[in-house]
Amino acid sequence: METIAIYNQKGGTGKTTTTINLGHALALTGKKVLIIDIDDQGNDAECLGVKFSKSIYHLLKDIAPFEECIVNARKNLDLLPSDETISQVALEMVGWRNRENALKKRLEGINYDYVLIDCQTGLGILNENALNFCQKLLVPVSMEYLSVKGLFKVDKLIYDLREDFQKDLMINLIVPTFVDERVKRTKEYVEFFESIDHFQGMISPYIRIDTKLSESFAHGKTIFEYALNSRGAYDYIQLCKRVLEGI
Ligand SMILES: Nc1ncnc2c1ncn2[C@@H]1O[C@H](COP(=O)(O)OP(=O)(O)OP(=O)(O)O)[C@@H](O)[C@H]1O
Ligand SMILES: [Mg+2]
Repeated sequence: METIAIYNQKGGTGKTTTTINLGHALALTGKKVLIIDIDDQGNDAECLGVKFSKSIYHLLKDIAPFEECIVNARKNLDLLPSDETISQVALEMVGWRNRENALKKRLEGINYDYVLIDCQTGLGILNENALNFCQKLLVPVSMEYLSVKGLFKVDKLIYDLREDFQKDLMINLIVPTFVDERVKRTKEYVEFFESIDHFQGMISPYIRIDTKLSESFAHGKTIFEYALNSRGAYDYIQLCKRVLEGI
């Protein structure tokens, strides 16, 4: 089982878009995939167009077992959904013993090929749980100045967390997002990352701007269901191939 957190401290960098479309791409290749939403915006259920009654709230509070908290979203693709109630658990968790291990403990014994966690923006107790549970870290970085600068902050933060979690946490894959090939600067940012020794081999194929990606979510569909011949679908297939090769 490969567990991957999709994380960036910065908001709106394409975390949810990447989680959903990478998750579905992996599922379409026959891999058994679980998407975990830990964001109180609850975007993943909406983007996949699924309804749910129990969520990660019930799992973390130990009100219901894992099997009751997930929904089957597509063939080979399950979702552990979230909504605004997770903020309440986050407040309560601060007083829990071993609070950063709560998610890990509740997910013991699950069996998937890939588990993708759609993290929140910032760093709170829920993201700490996700980073403590995952083996790999995928960071979508939108190709704009503040986001590019922010990557160095994420890298430092992850490095600091290694000691707290006593594990070899590192950024495994940087995914440039919102790449506009007509704008010289965005391609320069990609080249800039590629030129830094520290990030060598960690830059994935990039995701171009494609309005079909946002439209698809409005219809509760992934890009492969909404516009299979789009740039977005092509780019997420390339990312999926990269992840299948091992990150
Ligand atoms: N490559 C892209 N091209 C065009 N629009 C995109 C692309 N990627 C994401 N979007 C749109 O940009 C917005 C932000 O993307 P997304 O929700 O995936 O980011 P996020 O990092 O999860 O945000 P948040 O911090 O709010 O959780 C969404 O409306 C999404 O549909
Ligand atoms: Mg999101």
